[in-house]
Amino acid sequence: MALLEVRDLRVSFDTDDGTVYAVQGMSFSVGAGQTLGIVGESGSGKSVTTQAIMGLAPGAKISGEAVLDGADLISMSEDELQRIRGRKVSLIFQDPLTSLHPLYRVGHQIAEVMETHGKVARKEAIRRAVDLLGRVGIPEPDKRVRDYPHQFSGGMRQRVMIAMALAYEPMLIIADEPTTALDVTVQAQILELLGRMQQDFGTAVILITHDLGVVADVADDVVIMYGGRPMERADVRSVFVEPHHPYTQGLLESIPSYSGRTGRLKPIQGYPPSLMRMIEQCPFAPRCAQVRDACRVAPPPLKPVGSSPGHLSACVLDANRVGLASEPDEAGRAVGAAEER
Ligand SMILES: Nc1ncnc2c1ncn2[C@@H]1O[C@H](COP(=O)(O)OP(=O)(O)OP(=O)(O)O)[C@@H](O)[C@H]1O
Ligand SMILES: [Mg+2]
Repeated sequence: MALLEVRDLRVSFDTDDGTVYAVQGMSFSVGAGQTLGIVGESGSGKSVTTQAIMGLAPGAKISGEAVLDGADLISMSEDELQRIRGRKVSLIFQDPLTSLHPLYRVGHQIAEVMETHGKVARKEAIRRAVDLLGRVGIPEPDKRVRDYPHQFSGGMRQRVMIAMALAYEPMLIIADEPTTALDVTVQAQILELLGRMQQDFGTAVILITHDLGVVADVADDVVIMYGGRPMERADVRSVFVEPHHPYTQGLLESIPSYSGRTGRLKPIQGYPPSLMRMIEQCPFAPRCAQVRDACRVAPPPLKPVGSSPGHLSACVLDANRVGLASEPDEAGRAVGAAEER
């Protein structure tokens, strides 16, 4: 059973300029100890999705379900959500400086979490904070525990944030672009750390990123968002080996490491849609090279495609048509869908 199951999440904001339809029909699930990557371009609704679920989208109109460990977060009161955010779910953001208190020593901040949630005494909490800082790769943790956030580099601060997130012993960590501000080497180290901690603690992770390469390295499952909607959902291998949605295929072709293999690097032409009105068609239709009339009737729902179970695509194209640039064979079937039964 999934730890978190999100069904038909819709989020909109009423602003002075009109309504922003930020998320429409978002559905996904995350199993215990699993990593789900949420991928999409800037403005596709990745952050709003998790903010709405966790009660961190003030002023948002939210509908749908988000069942965590048997309880629906969408219908919870602010008090209940606050307890969930403390006990069951930890959040890690791009810039740890905004999440860490600048005037308290990091050891104090981590220890305070443990005192409140684990009900341990201060001395023991500090001892555990030192242990956690060591585990997330902070050198000389017994000394650094007394430092203030500004005394750490960006990468080290992100490690401190991960230590802090783990101090809650959460079932789920939501990491929103946790490494975007870091250089590539540090980025890799942080992601590896997150993976290792996840194994040690059995925590589920939702990793939000615009970088499919990052997802390829660390995620079990992926949901690709575009224009506030899920375009494709699958285990990570299927998304890379049998991408179905033209948007996913476009994203893959625009990654240098991936297109390096196929010898092409093609940015997707055009711009993402405005979310200032309800999109009544496939949001990718205006940019899609394979667009047809059916795409303009209504946003296509996610439906099963390809050869692996759980692979879903919100595209009207033939459900069994898989693979980058696969051509139909004489029988009209996609070459590459060899495992079809
Ligand atoms: N409080 C708000 N009021 C109005 N519109 C909002 C609000 N928060 C987000 N939005 C809009 O919702 C849409 C989705 O935003 P979101 O922050 O989820 O994008 P994102 O995929 O996380 O992008 P990025 O990669 O840049 O972080 C955007 O058009 C954004 O402007
Ligand atoms: Mg975001």
